[in-house]
Amino acid sequence: MSIIEVKHLYKEFKIPKRQEGLAGALRSLFHRQYLTKLAVNDISFSIDSGEMVGYIGPNGAGKSTTIKMLTGILVPSSGDIRVNGLIPYKERQRNARQIGVVFGQRSQLWWDLPTIESFELLKQVFQIPADRYRQNMVRFRKILDLDEFLHTPVRQLSLGQRMRADIAAALLHDPKIIFLDEPTIGLDVVAKERMRSFIREINQDRGVTVILTTHDMSDIEKLCQRMILIDNGQVMYDGELAKIKETFGKTRILIVDLEEDIVDFSLAGVEVIKQEGNRHWLKFNRDTITASQLISRISENYNVRDISIQDPEIEVLIRNIYENTLPLIID
Ligand SMILES: Nc1ncnc2c1ncn2[C@@H]1O[C@H](COP(=O)(O)OP(=O)(O)O)[C@@H](O)[C@H]1O
Ligand SMILES: [Mg+2]
Repeated sequence: MSIIEVKHLYKEFKIPKRQEGLAGALRSLFHRQYLTKLAVNDISFSIDSGEMVGYIGPNGAGKSTTIKMLTGILVPSSGDIRVNGLIPYKERQRNARQIGVVFGQRSQLWWDLPTIESFELLKQVFQIPADRYRQNMVRFRKILDLDEFLHTPVRQLSLGQRMRADIAAALLHDPKIIFLDEPTIGLDVVAKERMRSFIREINQDRGVTVILTTHDMSDIEKLCQRMILIDNGQVMYDGELAKIKETFGKTRILIVDLEEDIVDFSLAGVEVIKQEGNRHWLKFNRDTITASQLISRISENYNVRDISIQDPEIEVLIRNIYENTLPLIID
């Protein structure tokens, strides 16, 4: 059963146009001109209760704007949104009780207070029953390792600690749905992995519906079966990650450092896309040659110092999708 319904959603921002020089500044005082930006341009989707969905796209695609409308922070220019039966911007308070939100870029916690006091305040705000609060705190302290910084003011937390505090805060009132906007941004590999396993756990054990925005493809790979890919405010793809990777993720990049200076590096089935000193970036297609075949062919002919493989980035995938004309239907 669907818990989130979005139909023909639009959000337009009006940005005042700056005019050059003093004359321009004066003129714009009286005749202010605006540029309009369609941040969300006719987006529709529906999400079932208990799903974990990756809402993915490059910077500026419209991810945060969508999340802000789902949480009621922003009012849509047009279109319909239902979040568990509520219209978020009309019933912002009621909606806040059934959702949790984490913005990776900005903490929701009180900056100057010890972390634990933010939790206590939220307990009051959401009128969380004492039992529930205690049980949740015990759990979160353990799995998110909160004890080491519970009495530290939020402003002094490391990014990873702050993110853990924020996600605990977002879940204290047992929301049915959680919106995570770039929850792994800026985290190191270990902290990212931790955050991901916690997200997986709340989805699997507690059946919380998770909507996760990210521009990190590996977040999605590790967490979500379904992804909604957006660009320029529009849905480019909505479906299984596996299918999109199969279809569009065939090119990979091998980065190789050679001992010798080779100017004219060439191998059949491989495109040299960049060279810096002895380092070469080679683009290849998985259907033509496997990574291990390629590596062994290179090492037969050259002395290899170092080698690594780059998976296709989301930007590359999106570009590929564009080139294959839209909308995209895979079955
Ligand atoms: N408050 C705002 N005023 C004007 N433009 C905005 C505002 N918020 C976002 N935008 C613009 O809308 C587009 C989508 O932004 P956003 O939803 O933040 O993208 P994402 O989260 O995918 O990076 C961008 O071009 C951004 O500059
Ligand atoms: Mg954003």
